[in-house]
Amino acid sequence: MRLLALGDVVGRSGRAAVIGRLPELRSRWKLDFVVVNAENAAGGFGITEAIFTDLLDAGADVVTLGNHAFDQKEALVFIERQPRLLRPINYPPGTPGRGSGLFKSANGADVLVINAMGLVFMPELADPFRAVDAEIEACGLKRGADAILIDLHAEATSEKQAMGYFVDGRASCVVGTHTHAPTADERVLPGGTAFISDIGMCGDYDSVLGMVKDEPLNRFLTKIPRSRMEPAMGPATISGLAVDIDDATGLATRTAGVRLGGVLAPTEPHFWVE
Ligand SMILES: [Fe+2]
Ligand SMILES: [Fe+2]
Repeated sequence: MRLLALGDVVGRSGRAAVIGRLPELRSRWKLDFVVVNAENAAGGFGITEAIFTDLLDAGADVVTLGNHAFDQKEALVFIERQPRLLRPINYPPGTPGRGSGLFKSANGADVLVINAMGLVFMPELADPFRAVDAEIEACGLKRGADAILIDLHAEATSEKQAMGYFVDGRASCVVGTHTHAPTADERVLPGGTAFISDIGMCGDYDSVLGMVKDEPLNRFLTKIPRSRMEPAMGPATISGLAVDIDDATGLATRTAGVRLGGVLAPTEPHFWVE
């Protein structure tokens, strides 16, 4: 099966790019399953139900979140009626919504998606390693799931790489999100798990993390907030990771970074159109 994971959608620019191009990419690349992190989709902060629905309509199977999950307060309510919206699994007990789910892909496979948040330079949550381990032990590859994708929303590349090796051979794919800067270390780990430290953002890269440059620059220079952070509105780059998965094992056979549009140099997984 073929899977695409897209990084943090930021604001109107990121939404327009993903919603505008995902239908075409789904058919041209014969994608079976698409996961989109959209924690910054609503003006840079959180997600609304209308935006969530637009992403599903465009071809996302599952939308994941992160530390901005509940910036839009309506998410505390609508996440309960939207099983395809996941927030980090290691939030405290009682947090609305869920952190994992088993979803049917276009080719009929059952895909377990887990969203977890790292602890290094992040909010203090439960251990993401134990949380992920419990999920994949309960519903492992070929023991309930045909494929397993983990979105580890974390600041530190070390923590994300450690997670990759922690589940190597037990999950199809680990993608890092949150830093909004794509890394160039995508690979299939020795045990067969596709991995990237961070898939980057879907947003305008002529910015600081997707935000108009002036205010972040001001805060670094003066330490005094002057205005709200606003999403940059230039053309977005769609950024993510493509993975081919062996249906027999649920492990990755090949992977490639994806960057389309905007100011970043484009990369495209040519092996999908062979
Ligand atoms: Fe983000
Ligand atoms: Fe984040």
